[in-house]
Amino acid sequence: MSFLFTFVFGSVCLAQQSGKFRPGQLWPDDNGVHINAHGGGMLLYEGTYYWFGEHKVAGEIGNTAQVGVHCYSSKDLYNWVDRGIALAVSDEGDIQKGCILERPKVIYNARTKKFVMWFHLELKGKGYSSARAGIAVADEVTGPYRFIRSTRATPGQYPVNVSDSACTADQLFIRDLAGGQMVRDQQLFVDDDGKAYHIFASEENQTLHIAELTDDYLDYTGKYVRAFEGRYMEAPAIFKKDGLYYFMGSGCTGWAPNAARSAVAPSIWGPWTELGNPCVGRDAEKTFFSQSTYILPVPGEKDKFIYMGDRWTPSNPIDGRYIWLPIRFEGRKFKIEWVDEWGLDDF
Ligand code: GAL
Repeated sequence: MSFLFTFVFGSVCLAQQSGKFRPGQLWPDDNGVHINAHGGGMLLYEGTYYWFGEHKVAGEIGNTAQVGVHCYSSKDLYNWVDRGIALAVSDEGDIQKGCILERPKVIYNARTKKFVMWFHLELKGKGYSSARAGIAVADEVTGPYRFIRSTRATPGQYPVNVSDSACTADQLFIRDLAGGQMVRDQQLFVDDDGKAYHIFASEENQTLHIAELTDDYLDYTGKYVRAFEGRYMEAPAIFKKDGLYYFMGSGCTGWAPNAARSAVAPSIWGPWTELGNPCVGRDAEKTFFSQSTYILPVPGEKDKFIYMGDRWTPSNPIDGRYIWLPIRFEGRKFKIEWVDEWGLDDF
């Protein structure tokens, strides 16, 4: 009896120890090494979560891509197994070592049975002036991902929510019309009907673009809208609840944190209505010293969504921490509060 008690009690404690999120703390993987998947995104595939993010290295050089995109897997979101480098940087070409490769996101295409990765790419040695999207594809979820190409967005296409007569030559999207629109902080979103969208900071970060992808998710159809004109929205994350589309993002202050933004729309195409900073309480004006990277719907739980953000440490990027917090709803708005430690049952 006492053996049974100790056994059961002991295992309950263990489960609690590993069944908690501790925002801002080191987060060891199955090897005891702090997870290295910054600016990341999540894919739920066949009952397992896959976390893809930027593999950073120590020192300022770690803000450039020295290794590639790292992948981890988990059954419960708390305990993560290192699945290695999903997309490796190369010796030459667009994704050569030393380029800037940020905010990778992976989606699964049920039609082609391929895993498709999009990321923000800056060609080596050119600062942030290239502003391109990179596309890679794999047959297995953990990779290896094969780099296909990099591109500017929707070349030659006018946004569907701007009439020709409202266009003036000094507008940045007109400047970039022929060569394609700039792509910086970016996100992918797959809707219930399987259509996928690329959401990215464009026009020198002034205005966000939302662009439809082709059925194979490897290109743009050419249909896109401009959203939050002149609002300098970065770090976009999108989720859907009760038929409404929600947006979370940040202002534009580089690695330094700022107040988050949120918005709601009846359609992915808009119109988007801003809802203000969703963060409340202490350090809300700095998004708890983090910047959004993804919002994860908890499967089977209609009202549970997890805010995933990065606490950047640009002088030593490998030490960057992950800020995961529960999202709560108040009518049509959502809010995020700091908690030191929480679990999926604490919503
Ligand atoms: C942030 C952006 C990061 C990175 C950084 C560089 O605003 O969200 O992904 O690009 O700027 O300064």
